[in-house]
Amino acid sequence: MAAEIQPKALTRKPILLQRVEGSQEVVNMAVIVPKEEGVISVSEDRTVRVWLKRDSGQYWPSIYHAMSSPCSCMSFNPETRRLSIGLDNGTISEFILSEDYNKMTPVKSYQAHQSRVTMILFVLELEWVLSTGQDKQFAWHCSESGQHLGGYRTSAVASGLQFDVETRHVFIGDHSGQVTILKLEQENCTLVTTFRGHTGGVTALCWDPVQRVLFSGSSDHSVIMWDIGGRKGTAIELQGHNDKVQALSYAQHTRQLISCGCDGGIVVWNMDVQRQEHHCRKCGKAVCGKCSSKRSSIPLMGFEFEVRVCDSCHESITDEERAPTATFHDSKHNIVHVHFDATRGWLLTSGTDKVIKLWDMTPVVS
Ligand SMILES: *[C@@H]1O[C@H](CO)[C@@H](O)[C@H](O)[C@H]1NC(C)=O
Ligand SMILES: *[C@@H]1O[C@H](CO)[C@@H](O)[C@H](O)[C@H]1NC(C)=O
Repeated sequence: MAAEIQPKALTRKPILLQRVEGSQEVVNMAVIVPKEEGVISVSEDRTVRVWLKRDSGQYWPSIYHAMSSPCSCMSFNPETRRLSIGLDNGTISEFILSEDYNKMTPVKSYQAHQSRVTMILFVLELEWVLSTGQDKQFAWHCSESGQHLGGYRTSAVASGLQFDVETRHVFIGDHSGQVTILKLEQENCTLVTTFRGHTGGVTALCWDPVQRVLFSGSSDHSVIMWDIGGRKGTAIELQGHNDKVQALSYAQHTRQLISCGCDGGIVVWNMDVQRQEHHCRKCGKAVCGKCSSKRSSIPLMGFEFEVRVCDSCHESITDEERAPTATFHDSKHNIVHVHFDATRGWLLTSGTDKVIKLWDMTPVVS
């Protein structure tokens, strides 16, 4: 059989720029420093490190700071260079990094949770620090005074946290598979709604404030796109991973979603196509293995892998409907966290192998 000639778009791949190694335990979160060739990381090995690229071409720590507890999460605000770190003992510690990223100065610490902080978000506009913890609490604090402003008990431990500054809506995704939307005021909050679509826990959330859609990644291997702005309750399932989805990022300028998971996959989804909601997987009729042995991918419904469809639908699925709307790449590590730097098109992936990888995504995110 003659080798198939692949369309050019399918052969484009992320380019591995750098491996950043040296952490003793998994790096739970890390960010690319804007305008610098640098990375800030927090690790289970209790360290906070700022890595800068040296003349040798390698990334070496310019800051190495050991905390007394494992660092579970972080939020970095580039404008103020404020670094908020969530710790395994429930404390949030804040630092200001110097302009040259060679020094970090402690600002304050406060006991935000009874146990491990799972997510943290600094909101500069409102001077709020939002956080979730293993104690099943969502809390928000004043970033200036450190004062506790309010809290809300979630149905399970949360591992997804996003905020819409304009409406002051906070999105919390938890291990029960539920997404909770709260409206925050200065000192109280009200429940807006909750929704469920996953059969596993929510592992990551990503909010697009322009299209007003929320993406949730789950241990059930899927990503769901929730149309929040449309208010019709539309939810579209994206199937492109063979294992747990662990991290999400959204490239607003190109309208591409990046999902990463335990399978090492980096999937880049084109969100500029109209996908449809589904049931039968195509026509909505119930189909079982006995009634149909036919399988097909239906990318316009979010299924990049083959799924079971009924016989008549199998006949009617067009080549156009089968054209992939996502590209698939292998990071060669089990990804726990990602960060996308839109200005340069760089992606950071952090894996269970304790390695941070930096990728040039411009061949695929454009
Ligand atoms: C948690 O660790 C931090 C930073 O190392 C420390 O300042 C704080 O007192 C600890 N909190 C508790 C409750 O042990
Ligand atoms: C919540 O806070 C807002 C403003 O901070 C206030 O106007 C409102 O009355 C409060 N609602 C409740 C139920 O306390």
